Amino acid sequence: MKKTLSVTLFLVMAVVLLMALAVPAYAAEPAKKVETNSGVKVMHAADWKEEFPNQYQSWMMTSENDGLDDYLEQYPMLVTLYEGYGFAKDYKGARGHFYDIEDIEATGRPHPMANCWTCKTPDFTNMVNEEGIGAYMKDWTEVQAQITEGISCYNCHANTPGDITITHTYWIDAVGDDFDSIAPANLACGQCHNEYYFEPETKATTIAHSSLAGMAPETMLAYFNDGANFSTDEPFADWTNPRTGVRQIKVQHPEFETFLGAGSPHASTFTCADCHMPTVTAEDGSTYHSHNLVSPLENEELLANTCSLCHKDLVSEVRGVQAEIEDRTNAVGAQLVDLTEMLAAVVESGKYTDEQLAEVRQLARDAQFYWDFVFVENAEGVHNPSLTRDCLNRAESICTEAITALEAVTA
Ligand code: HEC
Ligand code: HEC
Ligand code: HEC
Ligand code: HEC
Repeated sequence: MKKTLSVTLFLVMAVVLLMALAVPAYAAEPAKKVETNSGVKVMHAADWKEEFPNQYQSWMMTSENDGLDDYLEQYPMLVTLYEGYGFAKDYKGARGHFYDIEDIEATGRPHPMANCWTCKTPDFTNMVNEEGIGAYMKDWTEVQAQITEGISCYNCHANTPGDITITHTYWIDAVGDDFDSIAPANLACGQCHNEYYFEPETKATTIAHSSLAGMAPETMLAYFNDGANFSTDEPFADWTNPRTGVRQIKVQHPEFETFLGAGSPHASTFTCADCHMPTVTAEDGSTYHSHNLVSPLENEELLANTCSLCHKDLVSEVRGVQAEIEDRTNAVGAQLVDLTEMLAAVVESGKYTDEQLAEVRQLARDAQFYWDFVFVENAEGVHNPSLTRDCLNRAESICTEAITALEAVTA
């Protein structure tokens, strides 16, 4: 009898929990949108130190995430795949927000314009909000002199800490009418953890989607491939590989698009903050969100109290998925290197016209886009294993198609 009761109780609790999880885990209140052109000045983290000591102290702790991976050393294939672009010269992995100014100042990649400050500092975010998109074309060094701090309270809260306010206006456009239906804590991180590009003429930071539906990888690729979307009237390219003549797209950290994309196991159950901002109990017994952004795998309490309800051993599960994705990313990357070398040799032979090579170049561009979408996503596949595998499958099959098409040209 006792056993039946506890089983029943367990089932009731499980159902309640599942129902709670099935409901999107965000506050009923949507995020706010920043007011532009209003003469507002940035309040900096130090201004909030007294009022919000816990958030301030934990925000400082992103300094603990200080490891700096050298991707070019770890993945020599990048030198070939990104040839002709800054990322083939210097490419370090991401680390804690604390280091973002130091890291952009140290990068070996060229950054002629202020648009490179877009995701680094509230001082620049506010400059764009006050001056308009002309600020993106300012000189990088001129803006550098006006920067006082890295990513901080204003980026996610404007000058009202506690409220989530979206301060990066291109991101308001990027989600369009879906704004109110997206959890504020997802929108806050999505402002920078997204796939962006610089508009060819205005150099403004811009996103290749204007709704949640538009952010599927294949939809974004179609957007980049359609010249009508750009002031130059030709398909978008970040750079052209000098040996193959392929006009390439460089994807950038699409965490938001991956996590909220099709097939994501937790898109409607958890937010970025649920997994990366631990809830901490302060000395006075109140709770707050730690602003030190850590891996959920380092959060013992979260694992024990929440994740373990469904995952027996999340750490090994995640490491297993990451290892599988890493292996496939390397294998497909190697295949892309083969294609690049084959195409480079054919171009160097001088025997074929651009017209003859157009189809192969298009396929090579598309294949690398899908591969890069996975390579540059910082969770190594676990935000959305199904979307990640789908991208790698597409990259592989399009690459194979390109090799076959190239063989047909030279046969
Ligand atoms: C204003 C832009 C911006 C916002 C908003 C932002 N990030 Fe970041 N994030 C960055 C940048 C830039 C880096 C890389 C910094 C570096 O390497 O110097 C980064 C790095 C990180 C890292 C470390 C990555 C690694 O590989 O170690 C984590 C984790 C992270 N962010 C999580 C989040 C979460 C969660 C949110 C939302 C609560 C968020 N970020 C919001 C720009 C931003
Ligand atoms: C990268 C984005 C980001 C930055 C930077 C940031 N916050 Fe937050 N903040 C959040 C998120 C996300 C939440 C939790 C919202 C939710 O899910 O309810 C939050 C919550 C809060 C809260 C509500 C209480 C709590 O802890 O949940 C306060 C107060 C706060 N932040 C203050 C600050 C201060 C002060 C700074 C600067 C030192 C800061 N935040 C920097 C994203 C950020
Ligand atoms: C269901 C939990 C979960 C949610 C929700 C989630 N992530 Fe993650 N995230 C992870 C896991 C697990 C990893 C891999 C951590 C590791 O390798 O230790 C990760 C890794 C990352 C990393 C790389 C840094 C690191 O610690 O490895 C970044 C950056 C990141 N997530 C950002 C985001 C952003 C932005 C969002 C929201 C759009 C988000 N995450 C939503 C679970 C989550
Ligand atoms: C209500 C059950 C449930 C809870 C609670 C839960 N998950 Fe999951 N999670 C799932 C399911 C189901 C999948 C998809 C598994 C699959 O496709 O094999 C999944 C997949 C994942 C994945 C993708 C990689 C993988 O292992 O398949 C990550 C990462 C993840 N969960 C993290 C978390 C974290 C972090 C927590 C705690 C904050 C958590 N989950 C809590 C049910 C849950």
